[in-house]
Amino acid sequence: MQKIMLTGATGLLGRTLYSTLVNDFEVVGTGFSRATAPLYQLDLGNQNAVIDFLELHQPDALIHAAAERKPDVCENAPEQTIALNVAASEFLAKQCALRDIALIFISTDYVFDGKAPPYLESAQTNPLNLYGQSKQQAEQAVLAHSSRHSVVRVPVLYGDVSELAESAVSVIATQISATETTKHDNWAVRYPTHVEDIAFTLRDLLKCPENLGGIFHISDNQAMSKYDMACIMADILGYPKSLLEPFDEPSQSAARPHDCALADSRLKPQGIAHGRDFKQAIQSVLTAI
Ligand SMILES: NC(=O)c1ccc[n+]([C@@H]2O[C@H](COP(=O)([O-])OP(=O)(O)OC[C@H]3O[C@@H](n4cnc5c(N)ncnc54)[C@H](OP(=O)(O)O)[C@@H]3O)[C@@H](O)[C@H]2O)c1
Repeated sequence: MQKIMLTGATGLLGRTLYSTLVNDFEVVGTGFSRATAPLYQLDLGNQNAVIDFLELHQPDALIHAAAERKPDVCENAPEQTIALNVAASEFLAKQCALRDIALIFISTDYVFDGKAPPYLESAQTNPLNLYGQSKQQAEQAVLAHSSRHSVVRVPVLYGDVSELAESAVSVIATQISATETTKHDNWAVRYPTHVEDIAFTLRDLLKCPENLGGIFHISDNQAMSKYDMACIMADILGYPKSLLEPFDEPSQSAARPHDCALADSRLKPQGIAHGRDFKQAIQSVLTAI
């Protein structure tokens, strides 16, 4: 049985990756501040600890999902962002290459500038904010270290959360109101994707490890703005949609791309594709919490 190491196993994506992959693989999951057994605590900024961990567990593949992924936090903490998103990723890529471990680096649609969608895996990257720049630098470092290393770009994610604010999608449910008018971004086009569909896709890919290497795109295909998502959530929660105002200009502090639709020319043609209806899926998320 393949042994898969997973960083970020305490995070939004990592928790579902862990619970999905344990059904088919031996999984060694690591987190940082939230790590409790069976997960291990591993500070990716501690290079000796990373080497010791790799030597001890000797995985066949490593999914690297740990990152600082909030663009505004990245902008305000550039040194910590570069240390985790770039330096730690580059170090992992080098150490994995030395040990013939296939690294799968989770990246983002924010490596693109959003001006010419849809983007193929081979499209030119041109990130608009520090988060995207840090992921672009990490992608380049990862791919330079081994032809068996992979970059997996994903769009905005949602799924089972410990609190609604954990996802940029489900947080919208905390921002809308039954009694007050609220404004929601109607400029950026997003493709909300359920973390379980990312996990199912990576599971299928890992079952054919000979296909690893290079860049992959995984994305659901329902295009919507945060305003559109707010309307769907208002319906689910029984709030009047008349209280939702679309905001048609870019509204957040860190620059955001307009539309980074990810085209998948590698996985779907192999029959590896998982998706779901957004309204039904977000309803499950909102009622589960
Ligand atoms: N969420 C999205 O909408 C989205 C969109 C596109 C791409 N992505 C990418 O998908 C991946 C997963 O994102 P996510 O939303 O699951 O992130 P998340 O929920 O914010 O989780 C971040 C993870 O990183 C870990 N971490 C933080 N600092 C660490 C350190 N020094 N050493 C080791 N681990 C550390 C955290 O551990 P503790 O919590 O235990 O401290 C946590 O497990 C990231 O690469 C992100 O860039 C996410």
